Parts: sequence; C-alpha cells; structure tokens
Amino acid sequence: MARLKMKVLGVMMMVNFFIFILVEVSRISGQGKGTNARPRVPDKPFWKKSVVSEAYWNREQQMLDYVHNPILASGNGSALQVLDGLNDTLHANACEPNLGVMTQVKDYNSLPARFKDFLLYMRCRSYPMVVDQPGVCREQPYLLLAVKSLSPHFDRRQAIRESWGRAGRLANRTVATVFLLGNATAADHFPDLSEMLRFEAARHGDVLQWDYRDTFFNLTVKEVLFLDWLRRRCPGAAFVFKGDDDVFVNTRRILEFLRGLSPARARDLFVGDVITRAGPHRNKKLKYFIPESLFVGQYPPYAGGGGFLYSGDLALRLQAAAHKVALYPIDDVYTGMCLRTLGLVPEKHKGFRTFDIEEKYRANPCAYKSLMLVHSRTPQDMIKIWGWLGDPALSCQ
Ligand SMILES: *[C@@H]1O[C@H](CO)[C@@H](O)[C@H](O)[C@H]1NC(C)=O
Ligand SMILES: *[C@@H]1O[C@H](CO)[C@@H](O)[C@H](O)[C@H]1NC(C)=O
Ligand SMILES: *[C@@H]1O[C@H](CO)[C@@H](O)[C@H](O)[C@H]1NC(C)=O
Ligand SMILES: *[C@@H]1O[C@H](CO)[C@@H](O)[C@H](O)[C@H]1NC(C)=O
Ligand SMILES: *[C@@H]1O[C@H](CO)[C@@H](O)[C@H](O)[C@H]1NC(C)=O
Repeated sequence: MARLKMKVLGVMMMVNFFIFILVEVSRISGQGKGTNARPRVPDKPFWKKSVVSEAYWNREQQMLDYVHNPILASGNGSALQVLDGLNDTLHANACEPNLGVMTQVKDYNSLPARFKDFLLYMRCRSYPMVVDQPGVCREQPYLLLAVKSLSPHFDRRQAIRESWGRAGRLANRTVATVFLLGNATAADHFPDLSEMLRFEAARHGDVLQWDYRDTFFNLTVKEVLFLDWLRRRCPGAAFVFKGDDDVFVNTRRILEFLRGLSPARARDLFVGDVITRAGPHRNKKLKYFIPESLFVGQYPPYAGGGGFLYSGDLALRLQAAAHKVALYPIDDVYTGMCLRTLGLVPEKHKGFRTFDIEEKYRANPCAYKSLMLVHSRTPQDMIKIWGWLGDPALSCQ
C-alpha cells in the first residue's frame, strides 16, 4: 500500500515538473516576441466612455447599465450622485405614465399609437396578478409548457390541453402546462369574457392572468411577468418550453431530445428557430417597424417567439438578467438581449419550424415525427396531428 502511494506521488511530481518546464519555456519564448515585454497598465479607463445615445431605448439601457455596473459607478463622488438621481428616476412611480417621453422622444407626436402606449409604460414591469395557480408545480415538472394566449382563444387552449399540452405523465416524465394571459380590455374593443375565463381557470387550473392590456407590444411584459412567476412558483422545473397558442409542439420528440443531452449542454440550453444578424425594420407599414428615435443598432441572435426551449436553470438566470435590460417592444428580440447579457447565444435547431414545412408534406404524419415545433396550426390540426403521432400503428422509416 505504502509503496503504491510512493509510486503515485513520484509520478505526480514528475508530471508537475514537466508542466513547470512547459510553462517556463512558453513564458520565456513569449518574452522574446513583441517589443514591449512588460504588461501594459492602462493609464485611462479601458472601457469606452459612453456617448449619450440619440435613441430612447438605448439611452434607457445606458442608464440601467450605470445603475447596475459597479465599475462604472465606482470611484467618483460626483458621478455617484448622478447615479443616485438616475436610480430615483428609474424607480419613482415606474408604473405611472412617464410623460417625459413626449419631449424626450424626438418624433413622439407622429408615432403610431402603439408606440406612445409602449413608451409611456416602458418602465413598468409589475402588474397585479388576477389569476394564479400556486399548486401547478407542486409535483416538480420535468417540462413546463408556458403558452402565450389571449382571453378569447378558448378553443386553442382546449385543443392544446387535449393534444400536445396535456398535463401529467408523458414518456415517464412529468409535464405541467400554463397559459399566460393579460387582460383583453374594453378599451381594445374586446367583449367581456371574464366570466367564461373565470370558469375555465377554475375548471382546468392552468390559467395565469395579470391585469395589463394584452397587446402585441406588451408581450415583453408577459415574458418578464412569467419569469418572475417561474422563480416564485416553479423554480424546480428542469426545462421550459415557451411558445404561442397557434403552434403544434411534438412534446414526445422534445422529451426524447432532452433525454439525450449531456448535463453541461442541458444547463445552458436555449434552442429554437434562431435568427441572426437581424436589425430593426424601418418601414412604417411593417408589424415589426421600429423608429430610429426608439432604437439604433443590430439585434443580438434571438429565437423566434413562436416557441423555444430552455433549461430551468437558465430561466432563473434570465429572470435576473431581465431586470437589467430595458423593455423592448418585440418580445423575442428582448429575450435575445437578456441572453446576450448572460454571454449566451441561442442555438438553432432545425426541428423548430416557425415558418412551417413544405405544403406537400403537411398531411403526412411521418413529416412531424422528428420535428419539435410547427407554426402555424389550427386547433383541429393540433388534435389531428397529435392523434397521428400517438398511433402505435404509425410506422415511418
Ligand atoms: C470626478 O468627476 C469630476 C466631475 O465630472 C471630474 O472633474 C474629475 O476629474 C473626476 N475624477 C476622477 C478621479 O475621475
Ligand atoms: C436603486 O433603487 C432600488 C429601489 O429603490 C434599490 O433596491 C437599489 O439598491 C438601488 N440601487 C443603487 C445602485 O443605488
Ligand atoms: C421512470 O422514471 C423513474 C424516475 O423518474 C425511473 O426510476 C424509472 O426507471 C423510469 N421508468 C422507465 C420505464 O423508464
Ligand atoms: C380587464 O378588463 C375588463 C374590461 O375592460 C375590466 O372590466 C376589468 O376590470 C379588467 N381587469 C381584470 C382583472 O379583469
Ligand atoms: C401595456 O399595458 C399597460 C397596462 O395595462 C397599458 O397601460 C399600456 O398601454 C400597454 N402598452 C401597450 C403597448 O399596449
């Protein structure tokens, strides 16, 4: 026993000595290169001094960066005073309409109404929850399906419950499902469906609702509120799928994919239909139009909001990151921005078909077998396709 220990010790010492030689050799040879061998200590701060941006979102983000970055905030008393001011500005009545935007955004008056609505409430990230499901994750789900829906979409939600979003056991894993809703208000000409929604929530126990206007530009609010909810009510979910209520999701295929991941890959997982090198559209007629007065710059890589899959671990990190990123009116771009602050890049997976599959394959059950998501599908399509995939007689090579 003792002899063996000595031998091991001897080998380890030799290995250490060898590494020492290697390091020395590379250090010495490194010194020869270049003219200046001594490390250069920067005499000025080496980060770029930020120039105040012309665009409103960029300026809001610069303020948030200052508030949250201890390096930028350290060292100078007068600068700190400014920061205190900034912090107050950012927190004071964040949910009161911020009338300052009317003068701080150059072309405020000529912007479409949805931009005015967005800008006035851009700093507000907390809205009262009106329907919660505290027990939905009592049994820790392996996969949490979070579906962005809108009050009137009763049939889509029911089809999802009866097909790919059925909560319970699937392939020996626990799946939980929640639907994320804001308020479809009279101000947006929605009929009053609150009684029906109340019934649905009590009947199925899977509806989450917050009291804010459920509009396209408020989808980012939905994202932030969902992440906050997740930390509170479902922090143990191993994986999260978040997507729209008009997609077909091959939940079995997702579980199979997740089963095959290494622990390291699983921890930072974020997959979807990733869009890279995109930027804001400047054509006023497009749904995704963003004026120069609001945002300048490129978008980070982001996964299309139709649906993406990520780890619960990453969801909690995203939740924290979201509080340091100014709300952006396009929710999937916003999630990409949060990922970037974490130093992560979403991964493209060809199983996510947010732009659908070729028409000639759409009625072929085998075309769906290896896919994870297809957009878009009607409630009837969802039930039909789920039936195909669950049929033990289905055989595809
Ligand atoms: C601190 O800020 C003041 C006013 O902006 C500036 O004049 C001064 O040079 C700064 N001091 C340091 C050490 O950066
Ligand atoms: C900013 O204000 C918030 C809320 O008032 C506070 O929690 C936070 O610590 C403040 N941050 C700084 C850097 O002063
Ligand atoms: C089902 O999962 C449990 C743990 O989650 C495991 O112990 C069991 O072996 C699994 N059964 C099958 C058939 O894979
Ligand atoms: C939602 O909107 C309706 C109709 O505008 C309104 O009556 C209700 O108070 C709002 N809030 C909730 C939580 O339903
Ligand atoms: C988002 O919701 C808030 C709260 O209901 C509302 O005041 C604001 O106008 C909405 N924003 C958009 C862009 O619809």
